[in-house]
Amino acid sequence: LREHEEFTKVKNIATIELGRYEIETWYFSPFPPEYSDCLKLYFCEFCLNFMKRKEQLQRHMRKCDLKHPPGDEIYRSGTLSMFEVDGKKNKVYGQNLCYLAKLFLDHKTLYYDVDLFLFYVLCECDDRGCHMVGYFSKEKHSEESYNLACILTLPPYQRKGYGKFLIAFSYELSKKEGKVGTPERPLSDLGLLSYRGYWTRVLLDILKKHKGNISIKELSDMTAIKAEDILTTLQSLDLIQYRKGQHVICADPKLLDRHLKAAGRGGLEVDVSKLIWTPYK
Ligand code: ACO
Ligand code: ZN
Repeated sequence: LREHEEFTKVKNIATIELGRYEIETWYFSPFPPEYSDCLKLYFCEFCLNFMKRKEQLQRHMRKCDLKHPPGDEIYRSGTLSMFEVDGKKNKVYGQNLCYLAKLFLDHKTLYYDVDLFLFYVLCECDDRGCHMVGYFSKEKHSEESYNLACILTLPPYQRKGYGKFLIAFSYELSKKEGKVGTPERPLSDLGLLSYRGYWTRVLLDILKKHKGNISIKELSDMTAIKAEDILTTLQSLDLIQYRKGQHVICADPKLLDRHLKAAGRGGLEVDVSKLIWTPYK
C-alpha cells in the first residue's frame, strides 16, 4: 500500500469544502480512482459523502436529512457534543471519515476495515446542526491496549484546545472500561506534542496535590495512562531517579511549580458527569 501511495501521490486533492470552510489539504489520501483527477472535493459536512462539483453538493444538501453524525450522542456540554459511530453499522460514513482524515495524517495507513473501529466525532452545535470539529478512532478490541488509533482536529479548529479535549475523552473512556490505554504508534509531531502536553498537565496536577508521595502504578490507576507513558513523561521533566534498580518519583516542590507554570491550562475540560456511555461488548 505504501508503495502504491508513493506512486500515485503525483496528483491529489488540494482543497476540500466542508461546511462553511474551504480547507487546504496536507497529505495524499487514496480516494477511489474516479476522484483522483480532482483538485477540489465537496463534502457534505454531515454524512461526509464527497462530490466532484459544487452543484452536486448543493443538490445533495437539499435531500440529505442528517444534521449530525450518525450514531449515538454520548456527551453534551454547552454547544459541544460527542457522537459515537460504529464502523460496522455506518460503514460508508466510517470510510468517508477515513478518506477525509488521511488528507491530514501522514504516516497512517488507511484502514478499509472500518468494521473493527468506533469513531468518536466531536461537534460544535448550533441551530443549523452539529458541525464536525475533529474525531478519534478506537479499535473495538485492542491487544496492545491502544485506546486511540487516529486523532484529528480539522485545521480551522486547531490550536483551540479541541485536541486535548479529544485526548482527555479517550482516557475517560478507558477509565470507564477499567483499563489503561495508550495511543497507537507512531505519533506525528503534532500528535506527540499534544500527548506530551496532556500527560504533563495531568500528572503534574496529581503530583502537586499529593506532594509527590505517589507511585507510578498509583498514577496509572488514577489516570488510565499507561505506566511507560508516565515514566517517559516524568523523565523528560527530570522528576525520576533510578535507585536500587527502580524508577522512583522525585518531585522537588520548586521544580514542580516551575513545570506547572510552564504547562499552561487546557481550556476545554471533559465534564465526566455529562458522559453517558457503556463500554463496547
Ligand atoms: N505548533 C506547536 N504546538 C502545537 C501545535 C502547533 N501547530 N499544535 C498543537 N500543539 C501543541 C501545543 O502544545 C498545544 O497546547 P497549547 O495550545 O496549550 O500550547 C497542544 O499541542 C494541544 O493543542 P490543542 O489545541 O489541544 O490540539 P489541536 O486541536 O490543535 O489538535 C492534533 C492536535 C489533533 C494533533 C492536530 O494537530 C491534528 O489534527 N494534526 C493532524 C493530524 C495528526 O497529526 N494527528 C495525530 C497523529 S498520531 C495518532 O493519530 C495516534
Ligand atoms: Zn449528506
